[in-house]
Amino acid sequence: MGLKNENVLIVDDDINILELIHRHLQSFNYHAYKAVSVKEALAILKDSNIDLLITDLRMPNVDGMQLINYVSEHYPKLPKLVVTGYPSVDDALNVLKSGAIDYLVKPFTKEELRQAIVKSFAANKQHSEENIAQTKVNKEGNQQYGELIGRSKAIKKVTAIIDRVKDNKATVLINGESGTGKELVARSVHYMGKFSRAPFIAVNCGAIPESLLEAELFGYAKGAFTGAQEQRSGLFQAANKGTLFLDEVGNASPAVQAKLLRALQEKEVIKVGSQKSEKIDLRVIAATNSDLLTMVQKGLFREDLYYRLTVVEINVPPLRDRKEDIIPLVDKFLTKYGLEYKDRVVKITSDALEVLMRYNWPGNIRELENAIQRSVIMCEKQIGLEDLPDNLKVKISFSDDELMPLREMERRYILKVLEATGNNKTRAAYILKIDRKTLRQKIQ
Ligand SMILES: Nc1ncnc2c1ncn2[C@@H]1O[C@H](COP(=O)(O)OP(=O)(O)OP(=O)(O)O)[C@@H](O)[C@H]1O
Ligand SMILES: [Mg+2]
Repeated sequence: MGLKNENVLIVDDDINILELIHRHLQSFNYHAYKAVSVKEALAILKDSNIDLLITDLRMPNVDGMQLINYVSEHYPKLPKLVVTGYPSVDDALNVLKSGAIDYLVKPFTKEELRQAIVKSFAANKQHSEENIAQTKVNKEGNQQYGELIGRSKAIKKVTAIIDRVKDNKATVLINGESGTGKELVARSVHYMGKFSRAPFIAVNCGAIPESLLEAELFGYAKGAFTGAQEQRSGLFQAANKGTLFLDEVGNASPAVQAKLLRALQEKEVIKVGSQKSEKIDLRVIAATNSDLLTMVQKGLFREDLYYRLTVVEINVPPLRDRKEDIIPLVDKFLTKYGLEYKDRVVKITSDALEVLMRYNWPGNIRELENAIQRSVIMCEKQIGLEDLPDNLKVKISFSDDELMPLREMERRYILKVLEATGNNKTRAAYILKIDRKTLRQKIQ
């Protein structure tokens, strides 16, 4: 590595770290530039042809996160590697964990540094290749859009919407059951579009305690609460020019909902404990696996925020409603896990494939992926019935006598739901958790 003599810029206010990284870089045959402040770093970036930026996060005056935002905007092709000494939850490290930027936690070994650098260069190369390749369709009619795979009408509809929104900043709401690929869709909107060099930051509104979420999203002023010794920017600012992905947005508290509304409406945020508003410029994508509209009706989610979020809606249907996608997905996972565990592409018998096609996949694609991963590990030559997880194979059968009262129950239930929805078949199908086609058949 380093044979090409790439120019690497190291930014750190700690001289010892700066010197250490510098020495390592020289031994890897890189040409290293050193800066002890963001100001110096910007001067070097302007004058030299830098191929990789390695920066600390916490520095006096202007911090590393701001440098990263600046670089994302002005040098979008430049790969970035963050070196940080503070791997805490409330740190900007969340930004990095989202996978947008590579990071290395201090203290690190020379080898860890070497690998992180190789990864940063490689990831950058991959992104630029991904962007050129848009929708690819193979001879079996399987479509690949970035990482998104499928052949159903439903998935093609999803990728068609992504194509429409990827290059603008319209707010997008992604609906779908757990494991259907909501996060992958959000990532595709970001990475297939023209803002892909800027950060993509994912926040799970359901996983962060309410009190922390507000500070995490909007930042806080010095002295805003005990322990707030310095002011800190929030994720809205960290995602500047890029995408902030609000996962499980239905779990945001009323206080956070009010602040989100303000951020979307006014395009500005106010730090916790501050009065001053600051401009933001980014795209927000939200996702939910609960019915937000019902939550609005029950008073659990703000109606005005709901409409702000649903400028564009993408519904990712459950796998059982698009079973055509099973085969291309199985193919992908057989290749992926075959190479990982068996050093070859693993095959599957037609019996086993039939079981996969029949199963109704309550856990959707995540469950399918886990089933294939497990089966690849368990199988000898190819995946047969005996290698599949047992729960996929359970079959319950009823005699006609047993079925009769069940059908009567079903009939009455469907009629009740139709009555309650004023004969609205779309709503009724939704409540009954069946698709409209099935409902129509049942009505007949
Ligand atoms: N169309 C697809 N093509 C390839 N892989 C997919 C597709 N859809 C989903 N996956 C894969 O399935 C897994 C689950 O997807 P993802 O995490 O995006 O789902 P999710 O809807 O966000 O789930 P949850 O609601 O549980 O968070 C991931 O590993 C993802 O890469
Ligand atoms: Mg998810």
